[in-house]
Amino acid sequence: MRKLYIIGIGAGNPEHVTIQAIKAMNQVDVFFVTSKGEAKNDLMQFRKDICERYIDEPSYRTIEIVDLERDPSITSYTSRVEAWHKQRALTYEALLKNELQEDECGAFLIWGDPSLYDSTLRVVDQIISRGQVHFDYEVIPGITSIQALAARHKITLNGVGESICITTGRQLSAGLVSDTENVVVMLDGECSFKNVLNQEVEIYWGAYIGSDKEILLSGRVTEKAESIEMARSAAREKNGWVMDTYLLRNPSARRP
Ligand SMILES: C[S@@+](CC[C@H](N)C(=O)[O-])C[C@H]1O[C@@H](n2cnc3c(N)ncnc32)[C@H](O)[C@@H]1O
Repeated sequence: MRKLYIIGIGAGNPEHVTIQAIKAMNQVDVFFVTSKGEAKNDLMQFRKDICERYIDEPSYRTIEIVDLERDPSITSYTSRVEAWHKQRALTYEALLKNELQEDECGAFLIWGDPSLYDSTLRVVDQIISRGQVHFDYEVIPGITSIQALAARHKITLNGVGESICITTGRQLSAGLVSDTENVVVMLDGECSFKNVLNQEVEIYWGAYIGSDKEILLSGRVTEKAESIEMARSAAREKNGWVMDTYLLRNPSARRP
C-alpha cells in the first residue's frame, strides 16, 4: 500500500529537524513540495537543503506543486478557503495516484508543525473521504515558529496557571481576542500590535526566527510598536518577504 508522511520540518533552522523526521525522510521515494507567496523561493530552497543534508541515499524524486490561488470572486472567507481546500484535495489526489507507485512512500514537508495554521491534514482527510486513492499516512511533529520564538527570547509562553491564546493578526485587529494573559499572534501582515494601547502589555516579537535573517525585539508594546513596524518593513524590502510571530503578555488580564 502507498504510504504518505506529513513531516513537520521546523520554521527555518535546519537543526530543528527532528531525528524522527530524518528517519522518515530517508524512507521517502517522492517529495511533494508546495510553496506559494513571496517567500516561495527561499522556503523551497530550505526544503531542498534539508533533503540534501539529511538524506543518505538521494534516490528520491521531487515534485513541485504550483499552489492555487484562492478564488477572489468568493466573498465569504470561509467559503473561499473551503473551495481552495477542495481544489487542493483534487490536485493532491491525482498526484498520489499518478506519481506514487503502490509500494512507494511519499511525503509533504510542512513548515513548522502540521497542526498549526496548515491545511495539509484537512486536505488529506478530504482525499481519504473521497475514497479514490488508498494509502496509509503518518504525521511527524515539527518545532513550530511559536516554540522557536519562546526559545530565542528565553521566555515561557505563560505565567504559572495562565492561559495562552493563539490567533491571527486578522482576529486581533477585529477585536475578537478575549482578555487572555498571553496571546500569540501569527499571520499578521498588518502589524496589528499597533492597535494595542494598554501600556502594561509587553511584546516579544521575532521575524525569520531560527534562520540567519532572524530579528528579535521586545519591550512594552506601546513603546516598541513603531520600531518593530520599521524593522519589519525594512526587512521585507530587503528580502522580498517576511514572516513574523509575536507574544503579547498582559500582566493585568483576567486578574481578580
Ligand atoms: C501558514 S502559518 C504556518 C505556521 C507553521 N505551521 C508553524 O508551525 O509555525 C505561517 C505563519 O507562521 C509564522 N512563522 C512561520 N515561520 C516563522 C519564522 N521563521 N519566524 C517568524 N514567524 C514565522 C508567521 O506568523 C507566518 O505568518
